[in-house]
Amino acid sequence: MLHTSNLYRIPAQEQLGAALTELSQMERAFFCNSGAEANEAAIKICRYRGHKKGIDLPVIVVAEGSFHGRTLATLTATGNRKVQAGFEPLVQGFVRVPYNDLEALAGVAAARSEVVAVMLEPLLGEGGIVVPDSGYLEGVRELCDQHGLLLVLDEVQTGMGRTGRWFAHQHSAAIPDVMTLAKALGNGVPIGACLARGDAAEVLVPGSHGSTFGGNPLVCQAALAVIKTMRDEDIPARAAHMGDYLLTRFQEQLAANEFVLSVRGRGMMIGIELASPCGDLVRQALDRGLLINVTAQRVIRMLPPLIIDEAQADQIVATVTDLVREFQAAG
Ligand SMILES: Cc1ncc(COP(=O)(O)O)c(C=O)c1O
Repeated sequence: MLHTSNLYRIPAQEQLGAALTELSQMERAFFCNSGAEANEAAIKICRYRGHKKGIDLPVIVVAEGSFHGRTLATLTATGNRKVQAGFEPLVQGFVRVPYNDLEALAGVAAARSEVVAVMLEPLLGEGGIVVPDSGYLEGVRELCDQHGLLLVLDEVQTGMGRTGRWFAHQHSAAIPDVMTLAKALGNGVPIGACLARGDAAEVLVPGSHGSTFGGNPLVCQAALAVIKTMRDEDIPARAAHMGDYLLTRFQEQLAANEFVLSVRGRGMMIGIELASPCGDLVRQALDRGLLINVTAQRVIRMLPPLIIDEAQADQIVATVTDLVREFQAAG
C-alpha cells in the first residue's frame, strides 16, 4: 500500500519515528514531504508555544547567510535577499543576527521579550560551508535555556551522516529542542521530518498540523531502508573518514595559493573559498564530468556521495585543483 489517510496508524511511520528519535535523542516526529515543510512545522511549533505563553506576536531569531527553504515563511527565515526578492511582503516574526556571533544573539534575546526561539543550521550549507567556532552551538543552547527559547536546528542538508555524525550538532554537546530533516532521509524519495523533545514535543496535536502524503507507508519504508543501510555500512564514520581525506588533500594542493582564501568543511561538506566570484566553474566542472556548486558567489561547494572511495576522492581533488588553477591563470 502506497498511501492511506493519516487518520489510521501506519506501522512503518511508527518504526521510523522510533528509529529517528533514538538516533537523535528527540521524542516525537512529524513527517512531511520536504525540508521547507519540515521547517514550517518547526516554525509553527515555536509560534504556538509562544502563544501558549501569552506572546501574541512571537519572534524567531534567524541567521545571516542561512537557508531554510522556499515557502513564504522559510524564505523569510532565509538570510539571502536573492531568495526573497520579488516575493514581498515577507512573513512577520523573524529577526536576524550574524551567524557564529553569540554576542549579537545574546543582545537580541535580552532586548526582546517576544523572542521565542532561535533557528539555525549547525553549519551553513548554501551560505558557503561555514563551520561555526567550537562552543558556538553550546553557547546558543545556554542562551536559549537562560531565556526560555526553543533551539531549532535545521539539519535538512547536514543531517543523515553528511558531516561524519548522524546529525551535525552531534559534533557539539548541544541538543536542540526541534530538529528538521529531509534530503538524504529518503535517499531520493521525498520525505521530511520535524523532530522535537521536551515541551516542544507537546505543542502540535491532531488538528493543529497535518499533511496528506507526509509519512505514507512508501516513503517511511524507504527511509527505514536508508537508516538500516547507513547503520550496516557505518556510513557516518565513512563520511568522517573520507571527508578528512578530501579536506587534507585539498589543503595540500590549495592552501598555499593566495587566490584560495580558505579550504574548509566538516565530513562530506567541503567549501573552497576563492578570492573572486567563480560561478563559471560550475559549467567548467560539468564539462569534465564533475558536479560541483558555487554558493555565496565565490565558494566552491562540494557534497560528494557518502560512498565514494579514495580513488574517486583523488579524482575530485585533481579536477577541482586544475579548474581553480586555470581559473586563476585566466584571471
Ligand atoms: C538547510 C536547508 N534547509 C531547508 C532546505 C529546503 O529543503 P527542500 O528543498 O526539501 O524544501 C534546504 C534545501 O537546500 C536546505 O539546505
